[in-house]
Amino acid sequence: MEVVIKDNYQEISQLAANYLFDTVKKKNDAVLGLPTGSTPLGMYQIIIDKYKDNCSFQNVRTFNLDEYVGLDKTNKCSYCYYMENILFSHIDIKEENIYIPNGVAENMEEECRYYENLIRSRGPMDILFLGIGPNGHIGFNEPNYYFEPYTHVVKLTDNTIAANSRFFDSIESVPKTAITMGMKTILSAKKIVMLATGHNKAEAIAKSIKGKVTPQVPGSVLQLHNNVTLIIDKDAAKYL
Ligand code: PGA
Repeated sequence: MEVVIKDNYQEISQLAANYLFDTVKKKNDAVLGLPTGSTPLGMYQIIIDKYKDNCSFQNVRTFNLDEYVGLDKTNKCSYCYYMENILFSHIDIKEENIYIPNGVAENMEEECRYYENLIRSRGPMDILFLGIGPNGHIGFNEPNYYFEPYTHVVKLTDNTIAANSRFFDSIESVPKTAITMGMKTILSAKKIVMLATGHNKAEAIAKSIKGKVTPQVPGSVLQLHNNVTLIIDKDAAKYL
């Protein structure tokens, strides 16, 4: 695994954006895997500001990692809403090329299969960007006793609900479940770029890259992939 330690958030965001631009420059119909959360905000801002000088998203397809169950695209806390506001409405991507798991599907099991098959038939993802939770989760794959391979519905841990409550009016309004790509889905990407900043990610980062591969530390599965770049700051790197 390649580990790049940068001095500040701007440099992390710029390098991540460069990976994305390079992928789309080389392949104008690239398939991208995209995360939400605070960490990729800087990368998305650079993409908005600079994409016209670098590439077009006309033929690009995107797959998001996850979505809350029960929130539709009009809900400001849904990842659908986030993606539209933070990125998609500012670039030239076609709506029909955007894929996000449907958190309000009538039959969630069916939605999981449908999403997994879409990734398989329209993928593979050329590059997948990831954040990591303080508990080591990637996408919404929470610490568990076994690896969930494919897109599935997951019960969020109290730790994740507390961490994500900052985006909601109250902790009670954070959904208790989510739909997420599974471990094999994530590992099916040709290239993975993980971003992390801050002391609260340091333990998860150290366990993910130096610890044993275990479902108790979901980020540790990245050790099984042969093309991963981790872009982090000094705080997140403090136990390496
Ligand atoms: P964050 O979330 O970027 O908001 O810290 C990352 C994650 O929970 O995967």
